[in-house]
Order: sequence, then structure tokens, then C-alpha cells
Amino acid sequence: MDNRAIGVFDSGLGGLTAVRRLREVLPREDIVYLGDTGRVPYGGRSRETIMQYAREDFAFLMGFDIKAIVVACGTVSTVALPEMAGDYALPVVGVVEPAAKKAAGLTKNGRIGLIATRASVASGAYEREIARIAPDKEVFSQACPLFVPLVENGRVAPGDVVIETVAREYLEPLREKNIDTLILGCTHYPIIRDVIAGIMGPGVALVDTGGEAAATVASMLRAGDALADRAGEGICRCCVTDSVESFNENAGRFLGGGVISETRRVSLN
Ligand code: DGL
Repeated sequence: MDNRAIGVFDSGLGGLTAVRRLREVLPREDIVYLGDTGRVPYGGRSRETIMQYAREDFAFLMGFDIKAIVVACGTVSTVALPEMAGDYALPVVGVVEPAAKKAAGLTKNGRIGLIATRASVASGAYEREIARIAPDKEVFSQACPLFVPLVENGRVAPGDVVIETVAREYLEPLREKNIDTLILGCTHYPIIRDVIAGIMGPGVALVDTGGEAAATVASMLRAGDALADRAGEGICRCCVTDSVESFNENAGRFLGGGVISETRRVSLN
């Protein structure tokens, strides 16, 4: 039993899709969420900058009494985590391994698509992980740099001409590859799941990376006898590096009704 909180971070709001899943599977856990909303998006930045931001995100969360960290950012998980995970004396779960495992298990024809930020695609992290666990599967990747700004700005509804046009352009090349499984390699993308599903069609299974990471940390804590045992629900405290008002206004879309007990503005450096 361990009543310390779980730390979760992302460059912005997207990681709340992992928090949503965490709260479904482990409702008694306290969560401390960091959204680096002042610097989102990370995905078009250099490796050095992403490493620096990631170190600052980790250092901030390490200032809390936490028992594990979920890196609910595809960009940090793919670019920075391979070098950094061992630097911290607590369990750290990124999105790559859980999502790659799920996709490798789901595909029937061995053709897996990946959509993610530019930095995540350039890292080759999913190709490496899938080659390690399921070398007979092929990965086809597509960077989608406009998705994060559109999601952060609420252009997410199926039928919205902006998101539909952008999504068609990004997804058409993957449709032509005849994939049957698509990794939503950025934690912002579940918010446009319906748009993506509408374009890819019912024959393509979609993998929610933040959700898979949340499920993995849940099994890890359960196996280590480190779940919280409080009587009621845990609380979710959020820290952001830009406007609290705008975070609170948009968070509901990501959390699907989950409750935030407090949001405060913080500085990371
Ligand atoms: N949610 C982040 C990710 O999964 C957003 C990317 C970004 O900041 O560019 O990669």
C-alpha cells in the first residue's frame, strides 16, 4: 500500500487523456499533473531543447512526494526518455513500450501505422521497439505537426472543415499502405479520435498511447503492492506554466468529466 501520488506530465493538455484513463482504472490514486502549457508544442523543437524541457519537467515533479511518473507526452517519451529514465529513483513509464506492445498484439496483417509529432517520428523509437518485440511487423509513420495546435485550439469536431482537411492530408498516405492498426503516437490525438476513425474506416484499430501507459502503471503498482488504499476517490492537482483559466476551460474535453481539485500556475526554471 502506498498513498503517495502518481506524477504525470505532458507539454500541454494532451496528457490529461492518460489521467482520464488512470482515474478510470485507479480511482483512489492522487495525481499531480504538470502541463507545460507555456511551451507547448514540444514536437517541432530540437532534440537538445526537448531534453532540457524534459529534465525540467522531471525535476519539477520530483519536488512532490510521488511514487511513479507517467510521461504522458509522446515527444518526451520518444526523444528524451531512452536516455533519462534510469536517472530517477522511482518507476517511470513512457508511452512507447505500452503502445507498441498493444499495436503488435492487435494487428492481423502486420502493418502498423504511426502518427505523431515530427520529433517523435524522426526519433524512430516505435520502429525500434516494434522491431524488438515483433520483428515480423512493419511500421509506416507520418508526422502530423498541425494536430497539436488544432487540438489545443478546440478545432476537434468531426465535420470541422479545418481539422478534416488537415487530417485527410496526413492520413491518406497511411490509408494507401493498407495498415490495420494505427498508433495515436501523441497524447493529444484521442481528442480527434472520431475524425481519425472516420477517415481510416472501421477496419483500422486505433491505439491510445496515454491510455496504454496508464494501464501499464496501474499493473506495475498493483504488482508492487503500491496501490493507494484510501476510502474515497483520490484528488487530481494540476500545475501549468501558462494561464490557469484557459487550462481549466479546456481540460474537460480531455478529462471527459474527471474532476480537477486545484490548478495553479508554476515556473519550471
Ligand atoms: N502530447 C504531446 C505528445 O504526445 C504533444 C506534442 C507536442 O508538444 O508537440 O507528443
